[in-house]
Amino acid sequence: DERYDFVVASNRLPVDRVVDDTGASSWRPSPGGLVTALEPIMREADGAWVGWVGQPDLELEPFDWDGIRIVPLKLTEHDLENYYEGFANDTLWPLYHDVIAPPSYHRVWWDSYVSVNQRFANAIAAVSAPDATVWVQDYQLQLVPRMLRQARPDLTIGFFNHIPFPAYGIFSQLPWRAQIIEGLLGADVIGFQRVADAGNFSRAVRRLLGYATKSPVIEVPSHGRAPARRVIAKPFPISIDVDTFERLARSPEVQARAAQIRHDLGDPKTIMLGVDRLDYTKGIGHRLKAYGELLHEGRLKVEDVTLVQVASPSRERVETYRQLRDEIEQTVGRINGDYGTISHQAVSYLHHGFPREEMAALYLAADVMLVTALRDGMNLVAKEYVAARFDDDGVLVLSEFTGASDELRTALLINPHDIEGVKDAIMRAIEMPRAERVKRMRAMRKRVRENDVNRWSEGFLRTLAEARRRSGERS
Ligand code: G6P
Repeated sequence: DERYDFVVASNRLPVDRVVDDTGASSWRPSPGGLVTALEPIMREADGAWVGWVGQPDLELEPFDWDGIRIVPLKLTEHDLENYYEGFANDTLWPLYHDVIAPPSYHRVWWDSYVSVNQRFANAIAAVSAPDATVWVQDYQLQLVPRMLRQARPDLTIGFFNHIPFPAYGIFSQLPWRAQIIEGLLGADVIGFQRVADAGNFSRAVRRLLGYATKSPVIEVPSHGRAPARRVIAKPFPISIDVDTFERLARSPEVQARAAQIRHDLGDPKTIMLGVDRLDYTKGIGHRLKAYGELLHEGRLKVEDVTLVQVASPSRERVETYRQLRDEIEQTVGRINGDYGTISHQAVSYLHHGFPREEMAALYLAADVMLVTALRDGMNLVAKEYVAARFDDDGVLVLSEFTGASDELRTALLINPHDIEGVKDAIMRAIEMPRAERVKRMRAMRKRVRENDVNRWSEGFLRTLAEARRRSGERS
């Protein structure tokens, strides 16, 4: 039996096992910002990563993947439908993203969420050495900190929420709101993306449990045999591995590929780019609406400008995601039908993920990057674009409703609901003189460099170690 001093747990592992039509299976890097951020850290760290391999009913022994120790946890088809597609992605996801889509509340989904969280807690407890540090990730596993503390009071437990934490007026819809808060308070440190998220959480603690809070400290009173504790709740804005990403962008192969992409698109004056999981939080429809109207009004011409939209498949069995896909593909078809010519497409729509090399080339080729999320914990795509632009060029149009907008203040900040505002920002981005582009990009690059993903994890883990030391001194 292997035991580790450092254990990370997330619903999804950095690799997905995929089975093709012939029944052959292979490994594929997983989508999403969580994996983007944690993968480089886990490659350096000497620890284990507990999670699900992306296939139902698959039982696998621990294995090494690209220098990372992987401890797979089995999820059944029933778990997938109720815990993952149901409670995590049809209750919590829309609720935590300010009810952009209506959340559904089902007691069987909640029961499954409790039972899967308990299995995660058991699996983590089984691989954690005495006094180990455990770092639990994201909204799928909010009950794990408390369950783990009950089983293993020796552990130091951190939790990081990668998505927003909503205001109390929204959070309070959740029938199981108190259990979620109590679950999270099992951690020694609870990390959030933004100041506002940490504030919303502390307010929920006061309103629901009446505990005293004085930012960043939450006083958890003694309860039965459990002693009084102090929990830290504060923001740790996440980031990417800036050096590795920039090195990739600087490689001759990637630069050649960027030139090729530009050529293949017909050498337009302006290439605009959108890169998102196909998710209703990302505002892809708003972006297309703004672009379509600019073409309609003749402010843009397909001979001069083109939009590349990468929409990587996500949660495809959830109904809201199916509907979104239909809507987006209809809109893309309509725009191309109305404004495309034999030689020029208005939108190049790609419904698949790409390797990092191809993404870096796309970022380099893109004159304008469009991030129009309606709500987003951080948005690491915005940071990847900035990290890739070693030439200090390119314009980022960035939604105020992303965590990234707290840091990237010299982007063209937009409210994606304000379609006229988005249109004006697109025009301004396209027409911006090079000197201004460079000035804005340099400021963003400085910021992204200063706060890269190592700083994020070091900051979190240092706070976690200090919190534990202090609680040891008191007891
Ligand atoms: C976001 C979430 C992650 C999640 C990822 C991909 O980044 O914060 O927890 O893993 O989306 O979504 P999926 O449901 O495919 O894991």
